Amino acid sequence: TGRFTFDPGFTSTAACESKITYIDGDQGVLLHRGYPIEQLAEQSSFLEVAYLLLNGELPNQKEHDEFRYLITRHTMVHEQLATFYRGFRRDAHPMAIMCGVVGALSAFYHDSTDIHDPQQRTIACHRLIAKMPTIAAMAYKYSVGQPFLYPDNSLSYTGNFLRMTFGVPAEPYVINPVVEDALDKIFILHADHEQNASTSTVRLAGSSGANPFACIAAGIACLWGPAHGGANEAALEMLREIGRPERIPEFVARAKNKDDPFRLMGFGHRVYKNYDPRAKVLGEAATKVLDTLGISDPVLDTARELERVALSDDYFIEKKLYPNVDFYSGIILSAIGFPTSMFTALFALARTTGWIAQWTEMMEDKEQKIGRPRQLYTGHGPRDYVPLAQRG
Ligand code: CMC
Repeated sequence: TGRFTFDPGFTSTAACESKITYIDGDQGVLLHRGYPIEQLAEQSSFLEVAYLLLNGELPNQKEHDEFRYLITRHTMVHEQLATFYRGFRRDAHPMAIMCGVVGALSAFYHDSTDIHDPQQRTIACHRLIAKMPTIAAMAYKYSVGQPFLYPDNSLSYTGNFLRMTFGVPAEPYVINPVVEDALDKIFILHADHEQNASTSTVRLAGSSGANPFACIAAGIACLWGPAHGGANEAALEMLREIGRPERIPEFVARAKNKDDPFRLMGFGHRVYKNYDPRAKVLGEAATKVLDTLGISDPVLDTARELERVALSDDYFIEKKLYPNVDFYSGIILSAIGFPTSMFTALFALARTTGWIAQWTEMMEDKEQKIGRPRQLYTGHGPRDYVPLAQRG
């Protein structure tokens, strides 16, 4: 290929150095700053993981309390942002609203858009982590025609989000600790995943010097696609469409058929050629949440059977296609009460932490250059312009 390496889809190109997240796709290993994802999901909290991703170390008690204070003081959004929501149709997809609202933050917080000022960068990070639950909950409230709820900083990060989403001003909202714990786990498991499509989008946007709010809006747009974050919504819809275990062979046959664009959603991964460790944690959490909430959703049986059938099928074995993070998460989110349209918005809420940590790492890198891929040109050679009247 001459002067350039041709690598469409970036299957073999490292675009940056990073100290944040390590993945061994063959072994199914995921580490954040060296800590295994399973340990973080079981023992940590989302806010602590956010600190870890941003700062490189787990916080001690004092650092933890300070970080919590810094985040909670930014949980409210500018009052005028509510007007912005009202410009959308009520049936707007929450991701459409999130792209717009998060991009618009740069028009509200001028004191944290100077990317050359480390202090302003830090404030932007805190603002984004703090405001995403408020922004996502407002998108939900707007869609169901209920009033927006202000944040309650006495609650946990995830508890506050649950209350802003499902609470109403007419009565106190009681947080179910099992639900709070499961959702916090989901947030931890989605917090970062090295240079995936949306993170690379954030880095590429940031490499031009765009402000952090604009960069995160770009990440949200990329995450929306069904091959990426949109897969959690698509996976649950697929499981519901399959409906019962007897129909699984029909869908597996479709997924294997080259002439059918259908794919098993929540299956396969660019990097994992083994079981996605996040799916393992979520598969177990799904059973626990449904049991505790007393919900018997046939979709979980369908998912388990689909996994069993696919993992014993030569096509999936040869191509090393395993369940990914999106396969079981939707079952839990649905049991909690979220509509499918909110699933990817929740992914965006959690991934904002990873995006902003990766953006910060890039901004601190003195060697950082604008991202500018090249191409292999396959179009016409030079030719002369023909006036309109002379064109056949
Ligand atoms: N069902 C059926 N066949 C599949 C699937 C699937 N889910 N995934 C990949 N394949 C086949 C694909 O047809 C191809 O076959 P062949 O080599 O014969 O052409 C082969 O496996 C390799 O697929 P690819 O598309 O070249 O692999 P990729 O690394 O470019 O794509 C992926 C990775 C995640 C986009 C893809 O596996 C997929 O579309 N999965 C379904 C969507 C999904 O669950 N996405 C969530 C990913 S994890 C969370 C996130 O990152 O947001």
